[in-house]
Amino acid sequence: MYTILEKRRLAHGIQEYTVEAPLVARAAKAGQFVVIRLHQRGERIPITLADWDPDRGTITLVVQAVGKTTVELEECFQEGDALADVVGPLGEPSEIEDYGRVVCVAGGVGIAPIHPVARALKEAGNEVICIAGARNQGLLFWLDRLSQVCHELIVTTDDGSYGRKGLVTEPLKELVGAGRVDRVWAIGPAVMMKFCSLVCQEAGVPIIVSLNPIMVDGTGMCGACRVEVDGQVRFGCVDGPEFPGDKVNWDLLIARLSAFKEEERCALERYRELLKEATA
Ligand SMILES: Cc1cc2nc3c(=O)[nH]c(=O)nc-3n(C[C@H](O)[C@H](O)[C@H](O)COP(=O)(O)OP(=O)(O)OC[C@H]3O[C@@H](n4cnc5c(N)ncnc54)[C@H](O)[C@@H]3O)c2cc1C
Ligand code: FES
Repeated sequence: MYTILEKRRLAHGIQEYTVEAPLVARAAKAGQFVVIRLHQRGERIPITLADWDPDRGTITLVVQAVGKTTVELEECFQEGDALADVVGPLGEPSEIEDYGRVVCVAGGVGIAPIHPVARALKEAGNEVICIAGARNQGLLFWLDRLSQVCHELIVTTDDGSYGRKGLVTEPLKELVGAGRVDRVWAIGPAVMMKFCSLVCQEAGVPIIVSLNPIMVDGTGMCGACRVEVDGQVRFGCVDGPEFPGDKVNWDLLIARLSAFKEEERCALERYRELLKEATA
């Protein structure tokens, strides 16, 4: 059950996992996610389906180690180990149509979840331009895979160590400003998606973003993932995770994402202490 068949380091703190999950692999669609639990006492965390192989019965997850659970996954789970639960596919799939010319923007670990969306859009007949950005070259990954699912790939780094120096919003502004962009998708940190949405709003181009609110059950029951879209309360897990970026209440989302910072810091500290005791 949910055995990790392959584990590969992609960048500092970012790992790719190929996990045995045949039922999920058979049903997966671009834009959907799974909720995983590492072990019986583990918390549930949502991770986007970055790829899947129905014939082999596997799914690919790309996970950035940012706190207790993702650090534990990186440090303690190796090839041959199994995850306790993989629930999914969850969420509404991306609305894939032939829009014409589409720009897919990915920031940081968002490169992985934009991959199946760009692939599906290209397969549907769109001309797809991808923009992938990271703080520096060391945090970039899957550029080869991304270039296979788009017609043009633009890479940016904040420090200029690879590709164009600057933020993803700069080439996005140029593309939408020059016209002929029918739709934009953006996946990455909330602040990046907020600024991509502002750029598109100014240019009058529709933008879809994949929201990342804190989720617990992932099935619409707990309300943890509530977001405000167009003045309405929506649940990220069942109504999303994709929503029109120009309609999202970004300030509320960003505030809710950091509501448990102290608890998250304590959980990571406690995990490190327990690990130290166990290995002493
Ligand atoms: C639909 C969706 C898809 C996601 N896909 C990916 C992905 O493909 N790869 C990836 O690396 N990350 C993804 N994330 C983010 C990932 O779920 C969080 O990084 C993870 O839950 C952090 O848990 P932690 O215990 O390691 O860190 P913590 O220290 O507990 O939290 C660090 C930060 O992560 C966020 N977070 C914490 N708990 C949750 C939770 N239960 N649900 C959502 N966010 C949380 C909060 O902003 C928090 O401040 C996704 C989130 C959502 C909502
Ligand atoms: S995670 Fe509980 S309602 Fe969405």
